Amino acid sequence: MAHKYAQLAFTETVRAMQQEQNSRAGYARMDQGEDHNFLLSNVEAGFIAERDSFYMASVSETHWPYVQHRGGPKGFLKVLDASTIGFADYKGNRQYVSAGNFRNNDRVALIFVDYPNKRRLKLMGRISLVAEDDWQTLASLEDDNYRAKVERGFIIKVEAFDWNCPQHITPRYSESELESLIVPLNNELAELKAQLKEKLKAQSESQVRDQQKTSTSQVSAQSDYPQISGEGELPLVISSIRQLTPRIRAIEFKHANGDALPPFEAGAHLAIPVVLNDGKLTHRHYSICSNPNRSNSYEIAVLNEFIEPDKRNELKEENLELVEQSGSATIHQHFTLGLRLDCSLPGNYFPLERSTAPVVLIAGGIGITPIKAMALTLISQQREFSLHYCGRSIDEMAFSDRLTRQIGDKLTLYAADEGNKLNVKKLLSTAVRGANFYFCGPKKLIDQILSTAQELGIAKSRLNFERFASNQDVTAQPFTLKLNRSQKQITVSAQESILDAVLTQGIDVPYSCKTGACRSCVVTVVKGDVIHKDECLTETDKSNKLMCLCVSRAAQDILELEL
Ligand code: FES
Repeated sequence: MAHKYAQLAFTETVRAMQQEQNSRAGYARMDQGEDHNFLLSNVEAGFIAERDSFYMASVSETHWPYVQHRGGPKGFLKVLDASTIGFADYKGNRQYVSAGNFRNNDRVALIFVDYPNKRRLKLMGRISLVAEDDWQTLASLEDDNYRAKVERGFIIKVEAFDWNCPQHITPRYSESELESLIVPLNNELAELKAQLKEKLKAQSESQVRDQQKTSTSQVSAQSDYPQISGEGELPLVISSIRQLTPRIRAIEFKHANGDALPPFEAGAHLAIPVVLNDGKLTHRHYSICSNPNRSNSYEIAVLNEFIEPDKRNELKEENLELVEQSGSATIHQHFTLGLRLDCSLPGNYFPLERSTAPVVLIAGGIGITPIKAMALTLISQQREFSLHYCGRSIDEMAFSDRLTRQIGDKLTLYAADEGNKLNVKKLLSTAVRGANFYFCGPKKLIDQILSTAQELGIAKSRLNFERFASNQDVTAQPFTLKLNRSQKQITVSAQESILDAVLTQGIDVPYSCKTGACRSCVVTVVKGDVIHKDECLTETDKSNKLMCLCVSRAAQDILELEL
């Protein structure tokens, strides 16, 4: 016998098993030479000194092995000499299974594991209790930095040990081991954070300098714009502004006092007070595009009117100026966070009928605003619908990504620059039977849908639409207006509506939408022909000589009204 561990562990039965399993030959060398592996070298001593735990098996008189995990401060198991190790037994363990076993059988087997480095040492020995009056040995087992009370001490006389293979040891790290690994990373992180902080500070100082330059150059333009405008009963403040596309900006309003906002239904609009560059207060209607189920804010989306450079020459100078001073341009230029607008309560000339009929929604460009609110309402009502949204390009189609997420395959996008154009005839002719149509967009799209619907025999009652308010009719001509009740004669310029011209003269006439949708401004024509541009009068109304002051115009030089 040579290897002391093999001598103790490789019993006759174990050797027979090794023989059966063909591993005996591999261990044969352990039986040769002089006895070894019973005296601890510096390698084993150092290894044991680094451990803060070990497993120890004892043998009971029932012959059942009992394995105990023992832990303590690192090095709490002391190597006293090459064949002696010992440890203090601290107060706390009240079962005394191991200690009791030692009284009948002094054999113990220990395993020490170094998890991070995947090493383990097995050791067998005979254990004995240190006598209570052996103060010297007890003192050598104590740990100076561990204040728990020592109840007794044990000495183990090493009989054999063996290093085991690293197989199946999962690396694990104690808190202090992790800390030592993390310290260099933390130092590096701290250094990088400091560098980042310096960079951000420099960047922020540079941005502040740039903003100061910009605001200094803009102050003359913006400081003139009133911080409160409008005379409505609903005080709103701008709480958020988001750039949806290069030309479309979403503006969110909240109640100035933090109150809940009055409810609105899909298709509703806000009349936004706008102070034009010439100082005149006017109102522009914008559909509320936020979810009607939300009562804490309203959101509108405003397209910045922009004249393509190659189209600028086609406009007369005064018309170009008028378009560039339009409400939307003013909003884009002057509306900032915190601006207060006293608005009227939301109105609605484009309501979604309450029914269970399926719905086909069609939007062109910025016409998506009322249609989006309708789609969200139809989702909450779990109604059958589809939304067809066309635009010049996906990048210019506001809310296209959000709608894709919200309504999924109910949405079809038509981007003209991808050659994907809406086939109105195909859509209308293949729509679900009995569907109602709601559409909003540019004049060309609305007219095309209306004429196609007429061609297909779709009842007008199923067609619901809203046109954009026209900022300017560039083909408009000036004319003279005779008012037979107030006995006034006024000139209506090419750039203003009859309604605005009449209001400027101090004549009080009712109005609301200013888009030819609500009938509020209808008057009777006494003499002259009219170019009707409204969407609310019937053919009978027109033959009864009614007209809308807000959008319609004279067909000749003089028009006489019952006003
Ligand atoms: S103001 Fe509404 S139709 Fe003229």
